[in-house]
Amino acid sequence: MLNWIEQRTGFVSMTKDFLTEDVPGGASYWYVFGSATLFAMIVQIVTGIFLTFFYAPSASTAWESTRAIYLNPFTHFLLAVHYWGASAMIALVFLHLLQVVIFGAYKAPRELQWVVGVLLLLTTLVLGLTGYLLPWDMDAYFASQVSLNITGLAPGLGPVLQNVAQGGGAMGTATINRFFGLHVWLMPAVLVLLVGAHLTIFRHNGPAGPVQEKQRVQRSGRFWPDQMFMDGAFSFIVFIIIVFLALVAPPYLDQKADPTRAATFQPYPAWYFLSLFGLLALVPPEVHLGPLTISTELLATIVVPTLFLIVLLLVPWLDRSRSRDFGARQGVLWGTTIVVGVIIALSIYAQVTTVAKQAALPPSPPEATVLSQAEAATTTGAPAGGAAGAAAPANGNGAKVFAANCSSCHGATGGGVPGTFPPLANNPVVTGDPKKVIGIVLGGLHGQISVSGMSYNGQMPAWKGTLSNGDIADVITYIRGSLGNNHASPVSEAMVAGFKP
Ligand code: HEC
Repeated sequence: MLNWIEQRTGFVSMTKDFLTEDVPGGASYWYVFGSATLFAMIVQIVTGIFLTFFYAPSASTAWESTRAIYLNPFTHFLLAVHYWGASAMIALVFLHLLQVVIFGAYKAPRELQWVVGVLLLLTTLVLGLTGYLLPWDMDAYFASQVSLNITGLAPGLGPVLQNVAQGGGAMGTATINRFFGLHVWLMPAVLVLLVGAHLTIFRHNGPAGPVQEKQRVQRSGRFWPDQMFMDGAFSFIVFIIIVFLALVAPPYLDQKADPTRAATFQPYPAWYFLSLFGLLALVPPEVHLGPLTISTELLATIVVPTLFLIVLLLVPWLDRSRSRDFGARQGVLWGTTIVVGVIIALSIYAQVTTVAKQAALPPSPPEATVLSQAEAATTTGAPAGGAAGAAAPANGNGAKVFAANCSSCHGATGGGVPGTFPPLANNPVVTGDPKKVIGIVLGGLHGQISVSGMSYNGQMPAWKGTLSNGDIADVITYIRGSLGNNHASPVSEAMVAGFKP
């Protein structure tokens, strides 16, 4: 049987080659980070695939489907494993990279394996960045806005890139779709291809082994069983830690993204971007050197990280000595220590300043409140489209249409933005003549108006053609009956269809 398979595929001898491969200097726990990163990647792919069964990428469903994922214990656990798996994967990539630097394992002939490795680090970070947006809660929205704005700062292609990633001038469904496509298709495909290249090159060169030439030849060992056991044991420990954290510290879901709350919300980045956040928080936006104005913001967000990446890619060519001895590579080792120290210091600085800023702002509600409020707002209503005649206090479809189309300006609860967008809650026009409200929503509104003593002079878009008559009836019923103390009569689809100015 094995023979039959071997003759047709060569799998058996391939496996044998792989298992009996020499591990120069013998097996060691120093070498487990690479395989554990691979293991974390598999955890991410498996949990990620299952999460796509439950997640719906659009501005009106992303947060809602995430909330549904939180409300079911099984999918909640799945998401928590995916969340901690991401952190584990990035931490392991960093540890693996650090070990390679310390051991000088990037030296000839392994330069390309190193370059592919740095590209893998970058791909993993992009995966983290794009995944951060998907829940579409307050933090997801505003933290991603920071990274999108940073992209836009890049000279030359920056604004174009921002527009492409954002899918237009403002964040919305198109942004979620772009990030989703990157997160579940493009980046995983790139990741798997790069890992394939990384491992193929690894098989070609073999492991680098210990630093000293002598040790390498003296105590050679085999991959199977010793190294295989250490790799397996460490991956297993990583898995136990991920599951443990997923159970005791699952991620937090905040209220749905509300762009109008920019002034009262301080986003918190993923921990692996804290150092960049810290750098940005540390520098003043501009420095004046005589007649010269230098945008330090640009330096901190684009120039420094790009230079860092270039230096990282070039490490095998910057450290050209043949020796991998610690004594002969003091410069590299000290440089690494300083870089790691600065990254940790910046991260701590970002952590402290972000927490201080958050403390000065209204706190986010406890998660139980967020989840149950949302339940009340979207599930207790009448079935979609069934507003005719019923004096429903809340209707599911109306709330949804409102959240998707109106809340970005008028606020999630219809409170408006003083002086810019009028409130719809406790607004006598909204609860007054239904014909007038239908006219405003169908045809839009501009020109000076006054609500509760505050004057507004903006542009309300026309919704005729964009929303169906049924949706318009539902959303008007919703704003008339459910926002603030509004308790006015519902509006039917027939009233909208029969509206004459
Ligand atoms: C792009 C921002 C924006 C969006 C989105 C938006 N509105 Fe408005 N809305 C406005 C502005 C601005 C005004 C005030 C116009 C003026 O000053 O004349 C307004 C006015 C109104 C008014 C009249 C209030 C009054 O006191 O006269 C109603 C009713 C209303 N909007 C309902 C809605 C509904 C329902 C939706 C969703 C289908 C919606 N709006 C979406 C910006 C918006």
